Amino acid sequence: MSNITIYKYYVLIFILFLVGGCAHQPQEPYAIVKTVIAPSAMVVTAHPLATEIGVQVLKDGGNAVDAAIAVQFALAVVYPNAGNIGGGGFMLVRHPDGSAQALDFREKAPLAATSDMYLDSLGNVIPDMSILGHRSIGVPGSVDGMCTAHDRFGSLSLQRLIAPSIKLAREGILLTSSEANELNLARAAFLSVNPSAMPFVQSVEWQMGDLFVQEELSVTLERIANKGRAGFYAGPTARMIIEDQARGNGLITQDDLDTYQSVWREPLRGWYKDLEILSMPPPSSGGVALLQLLEAMEDHPFESAEVLSVSTIHYMAEVMRRVYADRAEHLGDPDWVNVPVENLLDTLYIRQRMLDIQARTTPSDSIAAGVLIPHESEQTTHFSIIDPQGLAVAVTTTLNLEFGSKVIVQGAGFLMNNEMDDFSAKPGVPNAFGLLGSTANEIAPEKRMLSSMTPTIVARDGQVRLVVGTPGGSKIITTVFQIIMDVLTFDLDLETAVDLPRFHHQWKPDTLFVEYGRFDPDTLEGLRQRGHQVVERSPIGRVDAIWVAPNGALTGAADPRGDDHAAGF
Ligand code: DON
Repeated sequence: MSNITIYKYYVLIFILFLVGGCAHQPQEPYAIVKTVIAPSAMVVTAHPLATEIGVQVLKDGGNAVDAAIAVQFALAVVYPNAGNIGGGGFMLVRHPDGSAQALDFREKAPLAATSDMYLDSLGNVIPDMSILGHRSIGVPGSVDGMCTAHDRFGSLSLQRLIAPSIKLAREGILLTSSEANELNLARAAFLSVNPSAMPFVQSVEWQMGDLFVQEELSVTLERIANKGRAGFYAGPTARMIIEDQARGNGLITQDDLDTYQSVWREPLRGWYKDLEILSMPPPSSGGVALLQLLEAMEDHPFESAEVLSVSTIHYMAEVMRRVYADRAEHLGDPDWVNVPVENLLDTLYIRQRMLDIQARTTPSDSIAAGVLIPHESEQTTHFSIIDPQGLAVAVTTTLNLEFGSKVIVQGAGFLMNNEMDDFSAKPGVPNAFGLLGSTANEIAPEKRMLSSMTPTIVARDGQVRLVVGTPGGSKIITTVFQIIMDVLTFDLDLETAVDLPRFHHQWKPDTLFVEYGRFDPDTLEGLRQRGHQVVERSPIGRVDAIWVAPNGALTGAADPRGDDHAAGF
């Protein structure tokens, strides 16, 4: 072979190598759309398959509540980190005439729960007991919630709404890279609390593009589709839950399943400038805290402020600090304790509380050195839907932490929540989100644990403008707050607002959390000089929101921080 021929030969091999390399380059299994504009309907969820299922329900003539029910079940299949039938959540519904309902399908403490159930004989909190395994599980509310919403507003049959999820569970879904990673990260925990961790654990680690089949879950979903509430809280599913509880020393009995009921509540309504804010009342702290945060902003001269400037972040963080102090003291399940909602939302009270906000916070010599980056999972999930008739639905639903308690109900193929950790196990001892609580949020049988979930709908002149919500534990409230401020005070478009770096302050710990690597170093230095203990951390929130322009055009914005996907028509 001549030199030239050899050269051509090597070039050919190199090209084949490149082509072969590209051909074998693993590809994410779904094309994910982050922003979409559509004239009449919109669905934004944490997963493209769930979004498409919601859209198809609307195209088949279902309304936004139908679509929300279908999406809730779909997320239980395609996004088991947070989507669930073994957890709970909140649904906010707003009708075109402005009337609205809030459905509370939050989990409850089991009948056998006690205020000291997570304490040892010395009165110390037993690490992880409220987080991992059977004792961490609250009585699930999601299936009752979906059936209750369906009874009142559903227009398509439950079978129709659940059918696509049954099919996906039976035939399997292709895992995205983040789903494969997250399942692998939870592998040891799944194995530690389950006799069989199938189908969440297989013999080898999961890879992107693997087929994830959930045969048992498909049968459980079939029972719910055919029998409604009784397909979960009675019959074979209930029996499997109770047997699994007994095996794992859990507290939930058939009585707990029989007595669980979701509750329609009056949504919390408030005003920020000319915007009507509809949000979740207690047992969420979200609506109260959000309205307090917004009220505190009413008089702030934002016209001269810039989004994400040192002074803007400082002022908002100082407001957050004060609002979260109230949360820790006063918020709990309204069916158990008197939550002074009116007093907390009193304009004079809020304004007076903000009067001592100054240019500086704590002395700079208390700024901690050697800042770590905490990694918390953001595994609740929120979805936003508007149908062609203008019915708007915001749902935030959760197992609490990533994959909940990691308990798989043996034989039934679904995960149980670890929502009990949202109670205050002991005054002064923080929960997984660093939140403190008082007696208002202490454990009692059948009581609902305080939540931060904040499904929210904003209207102007009687028309919906924004449907919004996010996961993020304690950071949910401040994330929703920032989206509202960014869009409605700083006039950013929704896509920009959803992408924008986020920050968070929750009173205790006395720390200003900011998203790692996303803030200008000068801004962080400016905040430190004002006395903030700035800690960079993993991403905050995964917002799935819809903006309605004055001409009625809908923009769906799905958070780039996850596999979230928007679609409309
Ligand atoms: O209800 C609550 O406030 C919590 N269980 C939400 C948990 C959550 O957002 C998990 N993601 N970080």
